[in-house]
Amino acid sequence: MRPAMTVAALLSAALVAAPAAAETVAVTAAHLLDVTTGRTIDSPVIVVTDGHVVAAGAGVAVPAGARRIDLPGMTLLPGLIDVHVHLTSDAEIRGYRHYAYTDSFWTVVGVANAKTTLEAGFTTVRNVGSNHFDDVALRQAVDAGLVPGPRIVTAAYAIGATGGHCDNASLPPSYDRKDASIVDSPEEGRAKVRWLHKYGAQVIKICATGGVFSTGDAVGAQQLTFDEMKAIADEAHMLGLKVAAHAHGDDGIRTAILAGVDTIEHASLASDATIALAKAHGSFFDMDIYNDDYILSTGTANGTSQESLDKERLVGLKQRQTFSRAVKAGVKMAFATDAGVYPHGTNARQFATMVKWGMTPLQAIQAATVGASAALSRPDLGGLAVGQWGDMIAVAGDPLADVTLLQSVPVVIKGGVVVKDGRGK
Ligand code: ARG
Repeated sequence: MRPAMTVAALLSAALVAAPAAAETVAVTAAHLLDVTTGRTIDSPVIVVTDGHVVAAGAGVAVPAGARRIDLPGMTLLPGLIDVHVHLTSDAEIRGYRHYAYTDSFWTVVGVANAKTTLEAGFTTVRNVGSNHFDDVALRQAVDAGLVPGPRIVTAAYAIGATGGHCDNASLPPSYDRKDASIVDSPEEGRAKVRWLHKYGAQVIKICATGGVFSTGDAVGAQQLTFDEMKAIADEAHMLGLKVAAHAHGDDGIRTAILAGVDTIEHASLASDATIALAKAHGSFFDMDIYNDDYILSTGTANGTSQESLDKERLVGLKQRQTFSRAVKAGVKMAFATDAGVYPHGTNARQFATMVKWGMTPLQAIQAATVGASAALSRPDLGGLAVGQWGDMIAVAGDPLADVTLLQSVPVVIKGGVVVKDGRGK
């Protein structure tokens, strides 16, 4: 038997597979979509050294010795960003089906989903909720080059109240167990933020209201008090972390904004007054408006409970109508799908839904690039300007004319390394 490789040997093998020090790559294509202005630049050259863009635009010379990646006839865009995923969840294992799997199964699920997501053109994701620091492990493995995947911004556990959306209420009291993510006072909230930060959270996720995929709670009801949300947000901000709040109901959304939360996830039932408040505060709405189609069309087949389906029917259409009003009002938006609730790798299906409900194709693409980068405060992502990561995708056609082109991305490049080339396949 071959002796097992040590982790150190695996890591150094992985580092060899990554571009050698100071490797320069030049990517050429027919067009580049400048996602900030919506302008198309013809015959672009993007030069990437050590993972970062060092020159970009038309008329940029290919440096001598650079490795060329020529994509004739194709249109380049920055790699896509999804700010709301659960890589360590599987859409087909819902409800009580979870109990058939051991705890560490979900990390393995995450490995598979990270690859699928990257190959779909999403070079960065924010993972807003997973157990046992699975997402931190996944990020470490991806960053070390051990497994393929997008850049991952990790939240680890989502903080919530006892009996709330982020608690597990699907077992009887004789199995009572306090989930690691549960807080019931502002002080417990502060302590939880410190603990999550200590072990690798890069964003703090809270459950401000009830949810669809939780047991026994009202989807629109607020579940954390203003004081709890404020303590969590203050502590997170002091540590330099953003806060994302799961919030469907109007009271919870409004309270989260007033408490200083940075991004509102779902935002389903926001009133006009709350939309105006979000705009005034510069809060982002991260709205997973494709989701409803998948949840309702699969019904109970994935183990989803009747309770969850009933709650989905309460929020699904209203969320889309809220999206239209929020777009019109000019609320900041970041592309967010909640993949994990629907199959990973199909994230881009949401672009067409966003266009159907009021965005231009450019606005939808901006939500997944410049908008997402702003929501994450990550100026190194979301574009192809000098200094940013050399993360890009290429499609055969004009995504502004047909946003569904993004549903099957043939070429994906992460940090100047081709991670997928499915041209002609
Ligand atoms: N994770 C969310 C929840 O359980 C999913 C909501 C999906 N529905 C929707 N219309 N966006 O509440």
